[in-house]
Amino acid sequence: MCGIIGVVSSKPVAGKLADGVRRLEYRGYDSVGLATLHDGQIGIRKGVGKVDEVDAKQHFAQALGNTGIAHCRWGTHGGITLNNAHPHLSPDGTIAIVHNGIIENYLDLKQQLEGVGHTFVSETDTEVIAHLIELERTRGAAAAQGTLKDAVARAARKLVGSYALGVVCTDEPDTLIATRNESPLVVGFGEGEHLIASDVAAILTHTDTVIYLDNREVAVLSAGECTILDDAGSVIEKEKHTIDWDVEAAEKGGYEHFMLKEIYEQPGKLADTISPRLRDHEVVFEAETGITPEVLRGIDRVIFLACGTSWHSAMVGEFLFEELAKIPAEVEYASEFRYRNAPIPPGTLVIAISQSGETADTNAALEEAIRRGTRTLAICNVRGSSMTRLAHHTLYTHAGPEIGVASTKAFTTQLAGLYLLNIAMAQAKATLNQQQIDTMLQALRQAPLQVEQILDQNEHIQKIAKHFTARSNAIYLGRGAHFPIALEGALKLKEISYIHAEGYPAAEMKHGPIALIDKQMPVVVIAPNDKLTYQKTLGNIEEVKARDGVVIAIATEGDEVIPNLADHTIFVPDSLYSIGPLLTVIPLQLLSYHVAELRGCDVDKPRNLSKVVTVE
Ligand code: M6R
Repeated sequence: MCGIIGVVSSKPVAGKLADGVRRLEYRGYDSVGLATLHDGQIGIRKGVGKVDEVDAKQHFAQALGNTGIAHCRWGTHGGITLNNAHPHLSPDGTIAIVHNGIIENYLDLKQQLEGVGHTFVSETDTEVIAHLIELERTRGAAAAQGTLKDAVARAARKLVGSYALGVVCTDEPDTLIATRNESPLVVGFGEGEHLIASDVAAILTHTDTVIYLDNREVAVLSAGECTILDDAGSVIEKEKHTIDWDVEAAEKGGYEHFMLKEIYEQPGKLADTISPRLRDHEVVFEAETGITPEVLRGIDRVIFLACGTSWHSAMVGEFLFEELAKIPAEVEYASEFRYRNAPIPPGTLVIAISQSGETADTNAALEEAIRRGTRTLAICNVRGSSMTRLAHHTLYTHAGPEIGVASTKAFTTQLAGLYLLNIAMAQAKATLNQQQIDTMLQALRQAPLQVEQILDQNEHIQKIAKHFTARSNAIYLGRGAHFPIALEGALKLKEISYIHAEGYPAAEMKHGPIALIDKQMPVVVIAPNDKLTYQKTLGNIEEVKARDGVVIAIATEGDEVIPNLADHTIFVPDSLYSIGPLLTVIPLQLLSYHVAELRGCDVDKPRNLSKVVTVE
């Protein structure tokens, strides 16, 4: 995930900028750079690679100037290249900016700018902002142009999407401007200086006093002054906060573990993955993936390749392709597929799903599919990873780096990618009518907010977790689209708490696992209010209760029956049945997290596991 630091000081800032990006390294990034103002010029030092590698070539400490910005980039738009690394310059070279977030309307803005003669050196959405700010500074009569802060505020009003911005300009060398929308940014108060950062970890060694910028506020900073303007340009007073975290706590944003932080990031990451691809009545990703409606119309079968949690999202994908695009889909363990001679009929799309894009089994299976001449698509979170270089097409998830070994936000953003793909295919193949498409789009738009509502039940879920801590086994049951979620809930629990857990289709319980049920056995039942499966799942709850099992039910808000049957109930908001998996998985992530935490397990680095499995 990108990181920002900026400093305006009475002293040289290069050391603080380099130190700041080093402290943001834990977030994961692919390139790094800084810009300082000196002698009426902007000096940029940037490159692809780790901070130390780029610093060895670019000598960050030699950058002169008392005002500067720095950035580590986690690519979202465009490859991992020097040109795409931040900071980005305006065409006249007077303005440098760093940016976190995703500008949803950047292609429209880019086209408008190209229409008035602008050319771009990068593929990023960020460079468009630098051009816009220059345009706002130079357009119209001098009196109307105002200062850099006015230009930044006017440009920001044209942006749709998320951004945290640090901006410097040769004409105002002692000023640093910052603004944000839906992407965090803090202003720090140092000795004889002000700092900005996307994450307090970057500046904590220089100050513990910060203010948190709110959406669309603009900070105008010099070494000695800090002025905050609201959306309308009026000066406002903001409360100062004292941070009492150590650096490690700051990296986790104050959360106890990365896993918890990543669980909480899901509403934002889902929005980042979904919103840029949604228009009023359609899904649009042709330009970024190369997948046209014609390509979609030509696909009549899907084979998924994946491992672990990504395999579970593939299973939700199977359900979606049958339900929405109305074509058959098969889910293969990548490790098995690569050594089988599974037929791949013409018209098949092979979809590889991976957070890292570096999982050896998945990539080997993907290579096998490519060798057999099949069209392939990667759904992947890491730009430039091996998988994205292998596959013919890539649909990126925008989860940002996932540091906790247990996958959470990568999973839900993979689901988001699968919804987008299915809606686009249903539209291209006309398997759903426009009203049904609109209903799906509406439900998908609402999902991030609904995830946030589920996160609000964290304390309730933590209390339920206490009932698990002394258990050795657990069973997870779900039907239809929620069967993969039962598998995912069980995997999450076992990998971080070391409690043995198994997921089953709910009806399978009576074919064997029911023998295990007694008062020592917690059974998590996913029981949304679906017409087809609800009554049957109630029957499963009764069966567990009749054998003294402990039922933890995930039910739809408003359900008055389940709380009377189950020992514990966690509610999720009502939505379309097919969107349900995106919601029901959230309480299961929190439940696993709290059980593991209460059992004193190393939540972020569970024993024997590796975040990226690059061996067979
Ligand atoms: O990077 P990938 O998505 O390809 O990784 C696949 C699995 O190794 C991964 O999902 C693993 O199961 C996680 N630890 C689950 O939390």
